[in-house]
Amino acid sequence: MSEVEVFWHEHAVSRAEKEKLNGNKGCVLWFTGLSGSGKSTVANVVDHKLHELGKHSFVLDGDNVRHNLNASPKMLAEKHSEEFAKRFGLGFSAQDREENIRRIGAVAKLFADSGTIAITAFISPYRVDRDSVRAMTDGDFFEIYVATPIEVCEQRDPKGLYKKARAGEIKGFTGIDDPYEAPLNPELTIDASKVTANELGDQVIAFLQEKGII
Ligand code: ADX
Repeated sequence: MSEVEVFWHEHAVSRAEKEKLNGNKGCVLWFTGLSGSGKSTVANVVDHKLHELGKHSFVLDGDNVRHNLNASPKMLAEKHSEEFAKRFGLGFSAQDREENIRRIGAVAKLFADSGTIAITAFISPYRVDRDSVRAMTDGDFFEIYVATPIEVCEQRDPKGLYKKARAGEIKGFTGIDDPYEAPLNPELTIDASKVTANELGDQVIAFLQEKGII
């Protein structure tokens, strides 16, 4: 048998090569909106639709991020130490939310650089934090404002948190006693109180086609 020659490539596989293989461009689809606005639901609908189209995407949301990379001080104290939890655990103060978004933005950028459509679903209440991610992702950032009115979010209250916030059991809850700064120039605005998640998903897919991402 003849010997197979393996050449070691010094350079990394380029993003363009990865995108060609994937059949889609990489980007960050940044959903922002109040708790209960429908961010995660629509993000997952979009993920399913992209998968059916043979495109490469990944959802980053509270379930897979605030439980590990951005775990709370309580979770870290159980696994590590109080000292460790104090330094690296994240809650919901303005500073902790800023760090939450900074880390998520950095991860989303890595996904985009790998030719993947990174779909993020976080309240991300501060404009300055979202704009920092936009600046970091040079042109690959699409902000999708889920503009479901607070009355609808509160009425739905899927996790019962608005009720707790109104009762004073949770302090600093976004929209109740903590601010939410709506985007000034989002690439897309959707309202999950008027249309089904499936239809909103179609709107996002049409947007990605229009932008030449898929
Ligand atoms: S963000 O503000 O830092 O972007 P993130 O999206 O990660 O927030 O987490 C929001 C989720 O955490 C909410 O949907 C809710 O389930 C839960 N949560 C717990 N405490 C708060 C709070 N004080 N404000 C908002 N959401 C909270």
